[in-house]
Amino acid sequence: MDNRPQWGTRAGFILAAVGSAIGLGNIWRFPGVAYENGGGSFFIPYLFALLTAGIPLLVMEFTLGHKYRGSAPLTYARLSKKFEWLGWWQVGIAFVISTYYSVIIAWAISYSGFSLNLSWGKDTQTFLFSDYLQAAAPGELGGFAPGVLLPLLIVWVVTLGVLFAGVKKGIELANKIFIPTLVVLFLIIVIRALTLEGAAQGLEAFFKPNWDMILNGKVWIAAYGQIFFSLSIAFAIMVTYSSYLPKKSDITNNAFITGFGNSAFELLAGIGVFSALGFMAMQQGVPVNEVVSKGIGLAFIVFPQIINEFPAFNELFGFLFFASLTLAGLTSLISIVETFVAGVQDKFNVSRTKAVLFGGGVSAIISLLFATRGGINFLDVADEFINSFGVTLAGFVEVIVVIWILRQATDLQKHANQISDIQLGAWWKVCLGVITPIVLGYMMIDKLRAEPYGGGSYSGEFLLYSGWLVAAGALIVGILFSFISWKKDTIELPADKEV
Ligand code: PHE
Repeated sequence: MDNRPQWGTRAGFILAAVGSAIGLGNIWRFPGVAYENGGGSFFIPYLFALLTAGIPLLVMEFTLGHKYRGSAPLTYARLSKKFEWLGWWQVGIAFVISTYYSVIIAWAISYSGFSLNLSWGKDTQTFLFSDYLQAAAPGELGGFAPGVLLPLLIVWVVTLGVLFAGVKKGIELANKIFIPTLVVLFLIIVIRALTLEGAAQGLEAFFKPNWDMILNGKVWIAAYGQIFFSLSIAFAIMVTYSSYLPKKSDITNNAFITGFGNSAFELLAGIGVFSALGFMAMQQGVPVNEVVSKGIGLAFIVFPQIINEFPAFNELFGFLFFASLTLAGLTSLISIVETFVAGVQDKFNVSRTKAVLFGGGVSAIISLLFATRGGINFLDVADEFINSFGVTLAGFVEVIVVIWILRQATDLQKHANQISDIQLGAWWKVCLGVITPIVLGYMMIDKLRAEPYGGGSYSGEFLLYSGWLVAAGALIVGILFSFISWKKDTIELPADKEV
């Protein structure tokens, strides 16, 4: 018998999966990406990527976790001892993400506090870089940014606290509270934004299709990148979460709910953000395209400006926004850290507490690097690399290994169909085995051929090399870990657990 923990309810699992999916990417990344890549016409490549890659891969990861009942390293090791490294590699990328993602959540916590008396003042850019981060020159660490340390501590205490409490009493409970709260807070902001003067112009800019762009390869790359990052695919997360599913679980339906739920939130964020941008453009008497931004700039520079100009209850809406960002980020961070907690626990047969202390502890310590005065520059690099190469590469390797090398499509399809309402047909195999690898393969070649992108604080070359160095480092660690042997009764899937 194995004593793997289980989700208490189906809703608990779905909320946890949705909680992982909905994160900073939905709020600050999607609106800008959609706008830059054709606005209204972006929805075609976006939907195509969701339906032919996002949801099929989600189904695959849910099925893998459910069938093999292990963290990503254990799942891949059970699938084939030769591919345990893939599980560790994905865990390694998740680990890297956790070290900087946690710091952005820390900023959001600080900004929730700053909202209460609009302490960012008029010049929100200077406030972010000089007053709050006290940013050092590129390449320098420059000691800790004092304002970041306390909120970062809070982030880790909450995250590790939830993980200590376990799957049902920790992760499930936290998501059951955080996700509905997030949806309510965010809806209030969106409704308020929609009723601001200028919102219509913002929405027009967001939804106006630019059909000339639809055949541009970059637009399709952006759509796939967004879908993968946003659905937390290929980072060991969904495999880990679905390893806690009870035997009787509807896999396919859960995947559709998670996929559409995440996209619905993304659309909502797009509407909210662009209504607010339309409002700001009108206040400043400039066209909407002059105020569009995404990522750190949108959340921590532009959004505070918008809040400054709000007609009433500025403090409240600032707080709601940053609290939403904090909640969305925390539920994603919990899922990222759980991948290596589960991996360490499975591999080394240690208690959950020890695995959390070790895995979470190491990540927390490394995250201090991003809490330095020079941290923002590294953080930019890490985020850019993960978004532009990490996601595609990890997803590509995963489908090639599972579908083409290990030829698992038919077995996984059978497994999912036995327990799910919606039956997977040939379409699922075609999407996974043919369409997705072709598109992802093309994407990577195109990315590699492209000029290394400069900009930001570092040159393109630096970005590229340091990114690849970290990716290769994660791979080497993965390969090394897979040489350590498993305890015999861990690696063997208990027969009574097979469906
Ligand atoms: N899906 C989350 C988001 O949209 C981020 C995330 C990416 C979480 C990768 C885990 C792994 O922000």
